Amino acid sequence: MPLAKYAAISLPESTHASGWLREHMQSDHSKLTSLELPQFQSGTLDSLIEGSEELGKIDSQLAGSVAKIVDIFTNVLETSSFQRTVQNRPATDYVETFKWNTSKFRLDKPIPELVKLITNEAFSLDADVRAAYQTYQSARSDFAAADRKRNGDLSIRSLHDIVHPDQFVLNSEHLKTVLVAVPKNLDKEFRNSYETLVQYVVPRSAELISSDSEYNLYAVTLFKKYEPDFVAAARDKKWHPRTDFEYSEDTLNNMRKEFDLTQQNESKSKNDLVRLARTAYSDIFADWCHIKAMRVYVESVLRYGLPPSFDYYLIGFHGSSLEKNFNAAKKQLVEKFGYLGGEASSKNTNLHEYASLVETDYEPFVFFDIEIV
Ligand SMILES: *[C@@H]1O[C@H](CO)[C@@H](O)[C@H](O)[C@H]1NC(C)=O
Ligand SMILES: *[C@@H]1O[C@H](CO)[C@@H](O)[C@H](O)[C@H]1NC(C)=O
Repeated sequence: MPLAKYAAISLPESTHASGWLREHMQSDHSKLTSLELPQFQSGTLDSLIEGSEELGKIDSQLAGSVAKIVDIFTNVLETSSFQRTVQNRPATDYVETFKWNTSKFRLDKPIPELVKLITNEAFSLDADVRAAYQTYQSARSDFAAADRKRNGDLSIRSLHDIVHPDQFVLNSEHLKTVLVAVPKNLDKEFRNSYETLVQYVVPRSAELISSDSEYNLYAVTLFKKYEPDFVAAARDKKWHPRTDFEYSEDTLNNMRKEFDLTQQNESKSKNDLVRLARTAYSDIFADWCHIKAMRVYVESVLRYGLPPSFDYYLIGFHGSSLEKNFNAAKKQLVEKFGYLGGEASSKNTNLHEYASLVETDYEPFVFFDIEIV
């Protein structure tokens, strides 16, 4: 469920709708505000129709970008209840007091150029966030691997900090000590059979080195030559020979370094990601609202014609029944202003065709929703 949902609507001035709207759309569960949109450069009807389709596409792409950032935050911060902040205020405030940013998106530029400016910014931020997310994910999995090595069970963890040199036959020409992690339920079978698993296992050489909740770790000494056979036979018995292990002080030190480095890297890439995602959320959300604003304007011109003489409104819904309240309000609006649909489409066949082309739920007047997720 979204955190808030808005209906942005535009009605011809001639409907004198504000009184009715105040009476019916302002209540305990809905908040009516007027939406201030600037005067845009208006193009030809054809370019507006084209622009309208383009805007529709970008609108849903940016909604996707914003939702993706919310996903990333939710995943990284492990909660979905973080502040949605746009230009230093709550996203709801930003929407409810929306003003076109004229210093950033100058109104002497034609609509297609504004669309390009806004989308370029939003798409490039979107790409940056996705890249930072990938970096963070691989840093996280590197750290998880280092963490498994250090803190995993005895069948996978690094053993360098567990074993001692005196538990090994070291520097012998013929003998070798191997380590085997034996599941606890197979312990008895191990003790009864390891000596005869292959030839030339040193009798009574098994030494219990360590235990965790799943495994007992044994050191077994045998003739070097028979190590491969022993390992294969041990695997058949579902023991876990730790052939990856060679006793070495260097490896022990490297492992400690690796753990610390990957941990630092993970937390750095997480900070970078969160910082970038905050900025990107704010900017992409603002960009998205600018695209919505242009949609409302373009659609109004297409429906109601020029010169622009329409009023824009925003109706906001919050709280647990917001979907229900939103739908009920929409139904009421359609009942009240549905007649506008007939008028507009009979006035303009071009538009009529366009309507049947683009949308299945084509409202009889200009109506867009905005969701804050
Ligand atoms: C307009 O955009 C500029 C540049 O991004 C930004 O610094 C400024 O805060 C924005 N103004 C408003 C009112 O959002
Ligand atoms: C941090 O992790 C990323 C992603 O795995 C990797 O590309 C980068 O080389 C790592 N940096 C350091 C200093 O380990």
